[in-house]
Amino acid sequence: MWGGRFAEGPSAIMREINASIPFDKALWRQDIAASKAHVAMLGAQGIVTAADAQTITEGLDKVAAEYEAGGVPENWDLEDIHMTTESRLAELIGPVAGRLHTARSRNDQVATDFKLWVREAIDEVDAGLEALQKALVAQAGTHAASIMPGFTHLQTAQPVTLGHHLMAYYEMIARDRSRLADNRERMNRSPLGSAALAGTGFPIDREMTAKALGFDGPTANSLDTVSDRDFALDYLMAASQCSLHLSRLAEEFIIWASQPFGFVRMADSLSTGSSIMPQKKNPDAAELVRGHAGRIAGCLTGLMMTMKGLPLAYSKDMQDDKPPVFEAHGLLALSIAAMTGMVAESDFKTDRMRQAAEMGFATATDLADWLVREGDIPFREAHHITGAAVKLAEARGVALDQLPLADLKEIDSRIDERVFKALSVEASVAARKSHGGTAPDQVRARVADARAALGME
Ligand code: ARG
Repeated sequence: MWGGRFAEGPSAIMREINASIPFDKALWRQDIAASKAHVAMLGAQGIVTAADAQTITEGLDKVAAEYEAGGVPENWDLEDIHMTTESRLAELIGPVAGRLHTARSRNDQVATDFKLWVREAIDEVDAGLEALQKALVAQAGTHAASIMPGFTHLQTAQPVTLGHHLMAYYEMIARDRSRLADNRERMNRSPLGSAALAGTGFPIDREMTAKALGFDGPTANSLDTVSDRDFALDYLMAASQCSLHLSRLAEEFIIWASQPFGFVRMADSLSTGSSIMPQKKNPDAAELVRGHAGRIAGCLTGLMMTMKGLPLAYSKDMQDDKPPVFEAHGLLALSIAAMTGMVAESDFKTDRMRQAAEMGFATATDLADWLVREGDIPFREAHHITGAAVKLAEARGVALDQLPLADLKEIDSRIDERVFKALSVEASVAARKSHGGTAPDQVRARVADARAALGME
């Protein structure tokens, strides 16, 4: 394809280090689509004849059918998917195939193909995340009033509802989706027609190819266009942040499924056994989601390192852009599917969660708040009084609301029998009805908002 000025062919090592076909064959659909848009434009502009444009278009359809049927024959001499497609086209339709590359370079071609691929990846991830949100919202609706301990420092803090906890992840995923939507909009400009780096002297119509490929219009600067991989980095950043959320959710399931917690029974379909310990049921899927988050972040930092020192415009380093994006996308798509199944199919042990909420003095803040409200005591003093009550309950091995009133009165005479109402875990969550709080009514309201946003009714 470029041998005109060379006396010798490349060495075996050159061929091997240069070949991107082993991975960029994944771009074949995008490569065909971009070539068809390009040749239609060349025909419309009279840069190639209508007859040649038609021959080339039909040839590209045949190549596509071959890819579809049998995959890509990997010939390292052909370097990449672009040369592979063009070479097969030439075999099928003869020398007219050579007109396809008029007013185009592999530099704008690869940027176009890759953008199309990333755009689809965004859409696929977004659909997966929507399904995950629906699973979260369904469980949250069921468990709007199921009480569990809320933690800070993984120490029992205050009672919350399971619905509230699950809806926290709904919010994280909503931010992930908005990040992806934002990336999609920013990237949706067509590189095609930037040619090698400087544009072209042929009278091309970049609006036409942009429109044909679903872009909002052409990019503005040819040098920037062929050396821009921000769209890939944006995707990897969004994927990394999303994978952090999935990893944190996975971690919660791992903790909740452990025997000392016993908050959840994971679906058999997403667990594995042990070859030696018959009683074991291991949360491997959740652990792998947690592990994959590290690999996805590695893909992001990898591509950042590839790009950081490159002068304008294209350099071959940029061929290394695809493996991290492909890898991260595969890992992310699987992680989303695994977490969706885990959320939808887990059996939450609400009795056990409630019991745990009743232990650990989760309503201590409610006692302090009661003293402030009913006794007009400054919060700091109320905190101190409550600390004494917790100390006594701990010494006796009982819950706060099991302390006799007489003992509470000894700690502070302003306490009376009405306090017991505030000390139950139900009263505790019901009281937290500030906007976005854990009260079941608040959770139900947020679930209703989410259902409407997801079109679930
Ligand atoms: N396979 C190359 C890549 O993925 C295509 C662009 C090649 N351009 C070039 N000037 N050699 O980046």
